[in-house]
Amino acid sequence: MTDWDEVFRRVPRSLFAPPVVWADLGPGPWTRVDRDADPGRWDEVVALDRPLIVQFEDGRAEGEGLATSSLSMPTMVAEFLRLLDPLPHDRVLEIGTGSGWTAALLSSLPGVHVTSVEVDPDMAAQAAGRLKTAGFAPRLVVGDGSEGWRQGAPYDRVHATCAVSSVPRAWVEQTRPGGVIVAPYAPGFGFGTVLRLDVLPDGTAVGRFHGSADYMLLRAQRPAGGRPRAWVDAGGDVTVSETRLDPRSIRYAPVAADLVIAARVPGVVSRFYEDAEPTGEATLWILDAQGPGGAWASVDYVPGDEAYRLEQAGDLWDRVEDAYVQWLKWGSPDITRFGLTVTPDAHTVWLDTPATPV
Ligand SMILES: C[S@@+](CC[C@H](N)C(=O)[O-])C[C@H]1O[C@@H](n2cnc3c(N)ncnc32)[C@H](O)[C@@H]1O
Repeated sequence: MTDWDEVFRRVPRSLFAPPVVWADLGPGPWTRVDRDADPGRWDEVVALDRPLIVQFEDGRAEGEGLATSSLSMPTMVAEFLRLLDPLPHDRVLEIGTGSGWTAALLSSLPGVHVTSVEVDPDMAAQAAGRLKTAGFAPRLVVGDGSEGWRQGAPYDRVHATCAVSSVPRAWVEQTRPGGVIVAPYAPGFGFGTVLRLDVLPDGTAVGRFHGSADYMLLRAQRPAGGRPRAWVDAGGDVTVSETRLDPRSIRYAPVAADLVIAARVPGVVSRFYEDAEPTGEATLWILDAQGPGGAWASVDYVPGDEAYRLEQAGDLWDRVEDAYVQWLKWGSPDITRFGLTVTPDAHTVWLDTPATPV
């Protein structure tokens, strides 16, 4: 068994952190930390168990907008690697080279052959330099990792370090039977999860969820963005009514509830806006990002109210509320009781066994 603590000591994160990183160090925007300006602070921040953002908006912005590349949180990196559990001499495919740190950790294992794919040429070039300096030589590929890398297949292990809302077919096809795929899984509603799949000889993959994980999405699977106001302007017949379900119960529900909602209402996405105290008012917006009808809903929370104003075009809120209540009726099972089966035609989330789809 791999002694991961020893591997992490051997391949320190600091070797792969660029001179400028952004960290979430409290309320407010990202904090920029510059090694040249303040080496002591940079050392401190790089040693924290926090993600370090190294790119925004695919390189088009600095310190604001969508974070598009990072050194992930060390405890999350370790959790994924423990689940991946490569054996000596395995062939491992990583999707999302980023800084190169994960590729280095994997390359330091005895006899393990690592191929790492990064979509962003600038990130890939920087990672190549750091890996070389640190003395590691994984095969680095610049390209769209959703296609895997056929030339190196079959792989014993596939590890995505960006999240997917659906597992690309190529990853399953390029993993040998008995091989393992480990990835952050973010079907779109609320928080994402940690997924570990075993690949079967018939070309399906089956496995369980292992916790929560908030990762940046594979580029090709990023949902349409936009602000809720634009969803409303998209039109539809709007009804105004009330619900007695506090929208904050859904906003702050455990990741297992998010998974059930995403499975039972495919394509639904949400945004939550909360006013600072003392008003404490909040609005949960939901949108059907897949359906053609532009269904959406908003629910306003006002402290002290017993029912909450609900506006909706279509029946999206009713379906989300039903899915959440179903999860409650099951006894609020935690995420480790859920699993996923991936076939060429479908992704099926299940509870306890593949025979009981959600
Ligand atoms: C969380 S970062 C990866 C962290 C990295 N493993 C490390 O050790 O620093 C996610 C990376 O996935 C990359 N990415 C996103 N979509 C991709 C795709 N379709 N193919 C390959 N890489 C992709 C991003 O550019 C980003 O660098």
